Amino acid sequence: MTTCEYRPGLEGIPVTQSSISYVDGHTGVLEYRGIRIEEIAQNSSFLETAYLLIWGGLPNQQQLQEFEHEVQYHRRLKYRIRDMMKCFPESGHPMDALQACAAALGLFHSRRELEDPAYVQNAVVRLLAKIPTMVAAFKMMRKGNDPVQPRDDLGYAANFLYMLNEREPDPLAARIFDICLILHAEHTINASTFSAMVTASTLTDPYAVIASAVGTLAGPLHGGANEEVITMLRNIGSIENVRPYVEKCIANRERIMGFGHRVYKVKDPRAAILQGLVEQLFDKVGHDASYDIALELELVVEEKLGHKGIYPNVDFYSGLVYRKLGIPTDLFTPIFAIARVAGWLAHWKEQIGKNRIFRPTQIYEGPHTQQYIPLEKRLQMWEK
Ligand code: CMC
Repeated sequence: MTTCEYRPGLEGIPVTQSSISYVDGHTGVLEYRGIRIEEIAQNSSFLETAYLLIWGGLPNQQQLQEFEHEVQYHRRLKYRIRDMMKCFPESGHPMDALQACAAALGLFHSRRELEDPAYVQNAVVRLLAKIPTMVAAFKMMRKGNDPVQPRDDLGYAANFLYMLNEREPDPLAARIFDICLILHAEHTINASTFSAMVTASTLTDPYAVIASAVGTLAGPLHGGANEEVITMLRNIGSIENVRPYVEKCIANRERIMGFGHRVYKVKDPRAAILQGLVEQLFDKVGHDASYDIALELELVVEEKLGHKGIYPNVDFYSGLVYRKLGIPTDLFTPIFAIARVAGWLAHWKEQIGKNRIFRPTQIYEGPHTQQYIPLEKRLQMWEK
């Protein structure tokens, strides 16, 4: 085997052969199973998209109905999971709560019969069904309230918004939220998907796979950026402050949240669709001044950093949509997770279908031929 050059962050190194999604970062193209994201966002639903990603093709009417029905049937949480959540600190981050709940779900389904299509199907359905209920339940329970039970007459997105706000959402809000889920469902080999694949490659259960991916998504350089964008826009405060803010960030080598991407060197196509959704929502429920700051920020960043390929990514406009839907800021990343479960499960299934455990190598930079120093001498050494 030849030794490869070390690339920090594995930049440009293929870690799998996949047919789930495709990104062209220079022309701003994203496809799920060969279909352009714009077409899917316009015509599909999140559950249909999840089916497409996980099972490899669009379902026929009967397959879709059965899948929707199964997911709807499994939305409820066991009282033991709810009781466990009651013990979580109310100040804890919802991503940590979600990671714990996803892992706990594995306790109830601890078989690892990865060869059994029924086991795989059940795990897919349970995870897609229960993750949104977990997120909404934590939101209610951290305030000392009972979780809102799912409603069988509502679709996937509408039911989540209902469980979150205890109010049936407007159909436009539900459709916009469903599109947000579609846009976040899958994105080739990002950090959390890689995490899912590494965990999957040990042939552990899919609940552990999803729990590890949730933990990876939580960081501010990945899914956590959507929260940080809202804080940043609030701190900038006005259009006049945008230019000085960007100049200060560049001078201090600080990251501007919601910008830049390892793969995209143009505006992320999902950011463009999300921007359209923000505007649709404004027409219905009123304008948000942060949007004007965001537009100015996009212009100034393009002027100053466009030559480096720094443009808005998916996290830049998503927070503005969620805020208009009345969603608390610390639920933005859990919502990303609700959607990305589809992609993680697709990669889990692909990985176990042609598995080899991940076991990369390293370039050792430490010393050799060191001697073991007895403890007494070590103390003397430190005292000197
Ligand atoms: N603001 C200012 N400069 C930036 C930014 C940014 N957001 N992103 C990259 N750069 C600069 C960076 O300073 C470096 O400049 P130089 O070559 O002069 O040192 C150059 O661009 C390349 O940066 P990099 O760190 O090598 O890029 P990367 O591919 O390792 O990082 C990234 C990608 C997404 C982590 C990074 O762009 C970033 O930190 N962005 C802000 C956080 C963010 O919005 N994350 C969401 C990512 S998209 C969705 C998701 O994955 O969840």
